[in-house]
Amino acid sequence: MVELVPLAERIGTEVRGIDVTRPIPDAVFERIYKAWLDSTILLIREQEMTPDQHVDFTRRFGEVVSYTRREFAEGGRPEILVLSNRTEEGRPVGSPVSGRVWHTDGHYLPAPPAGSMLHAIEVPPEGGDTLFANMFAAWEDLPARVKERIEGREVVISRVRSRPYNYPDRPPPTEAQRAEWRDQPQPMVLAHPETGRKALYVGGSVPWHVVGMDEAESAPLVTFLQEFSVLPRFTYRHRWRAGDIILWDNRSAMHRATPYDMDRYHRHMHRTTLAARH
Ligand code: SIN
Repeated sequence: MVELVPLAERIGTEVRGIDVTRPIPDAVFERIYKAWLDSTILLIREQEMTPDQHVDFTRRFGEVVSYTRREFAEGGRPEILVLSNRTEEGRPVGSPVSGRVWHTDGHYLPAPPAGSMLHAIEVPPEGGDTLFANMFAAWEDLPARVKERIEGREVVISRVRSRPYNYPDRPPPTEAQRAEWRDQPQPMVLAHPETGRKALYVGGSVPWHVVGMDEAESAPLVTFLQEFSVLPRFTYRHRWRAGDIILWDNRSAMHRATPYDMDRYHRHMHRTTLAARH
């Protein structure tokens, strides 16, 4: 019997009583899918999945895209990105540091992915948690005068600017990347493409710029929204156990990885990504 249990007051659903490697009847899957859209993240514990099963289960939620640096694809499978500090013959098998500040994946793209599914293979005994924040709840609680100020406006998201925040371990963007990575305006309030429900969509802790505002007005507004959107009442902190799966809706949830002692422990995760849906 599949049970749907809230994870935290304003965010998340834990799906219990399911083995994702076995067929899931459509009626059950519809309840799970709706819980994902409504609560922004799903947790499913104690799952053993091969990479193929991971891709197959992700496909129930939509088209899977390759979102990976090829060198970090699991076993040559471009759909699976390995996030790991493990090495083989001195070479990293995955991306060791990812998403350490609050963010929406691919916010700098014209059509960011719809979501991602992370499967924990090996986790450290402490640290390496992931935080999630519900952007529907953040929008709903915003003071009315702030809602009026931002609805219908856009914010400029810059991959060049976000790079040193998200990936402090990587070199700064090259001249060629700077030329290629165009700034991307995004709506500050997103109507969810599948439900129409509004979500705050300002992205994480990078100093973005509001289109049509001067810096003196834009900077404090963006800072306020970024801090407001991750107030504890909108968030959930996941302490991983091996076998956990989390699927987040990238249109309505932000997330953030937290550090761990990489010299003492290993953290090894597989991630799939859902294509944008309009
Ligand atoms: C990510 O941002 O995709 C990674 C999250 C994590 O490693 O906890």
